[in-house]
Amino acid sequence: MWIAVTREVGPALGNCELSHVPREAIDVARASAQHRDYQRALEALGCRLLTLPAEPDLPDSVFVEDVAIVLDEVVVLTRPGALSRRAEVASVAEVLRRYRPVLAIEAPGTLDGGDVLRVGRALYVGESARSNAEGMAQLRQLLAGHGYTVHGVLTHGCLHLKSAVTRLNDHTLLLQPAWVGRDRFADFQVIEVDPAEPHAANVLRIGDALVMPASFPRTRQRLVDAGFHVTAVDVSELQKAEGAVTCCSLVFRVNE
Ligand code: GLY
Repeated sequence: MWIAVTREVGPALGNCELSHVPREAIDVARASAQHRDYQRALEALGCRLLTLPAEPDLPDSVFVEDVAIVLDEVVVLTRPGALSRRAEVASVAEVLRRYRPVLAIEAPGTLDGGDVLRVGRALYVGESARSNAEGMAQLRQLLAGHGYTVHGVLTHGCLHLKSAVTRLNDHTLLLQPAWVGRDRFADFQVIEVDPAEPHAANVLRIGDALVMPASFPRTRQRLVDAGFHVTAVDVSELQKAEGAVTCCSLVFRVNE
């Protein structure tokens, strides 16, 4: 079965970090309602939710993806690139410890989970403003014994690697060519986002299904036409916080 770790939206969401989107007022009550719908969508796809309480003083803490990389064998706790996000790690670590041995990125390394795209045994790591070379080197070293390879990928114009490219299946990626080079993924089939929907590359795969924001109907149609089953969720308030669908959960398999 699948576990999805999430965290409730906190009252400080409006003070979130922003890098590539303009600050707009966020309706926190609406963000919470949308987040609940997102949680229900994950449950409908077979996930058991483990939901942490909101962190009132940590604006970005709903975006749990950034603080850990959950692999089949181990968890790697990250050291987020934004100082304001470092205190998010401990409470998520406590939950994940029940399921996997825990490793950790240490100073001076920085790494955001949103920069780590897993396809099979390959981890592609965004060389972004949040994740540095030391963080990637530590990840490579921590995981070498588990048979993972780690590959750096330059991003530009977006927050994380997974803002620009996500996995549709082990052979196919959804990609925004303005933010990441398609040549870096020459071994994959690539579906590009619709040009009218630059932020549409972030989708979350659970089992055989994809979850994506409702605000990208043209890109959704491309995925449906390619044979994918897509669940659309309205996450417009979370998008104002530069969040997307992968950011709001840590999804992993357990044998129970
Ligand atoms: N607001 C999401 C982030 O910047 O980490």
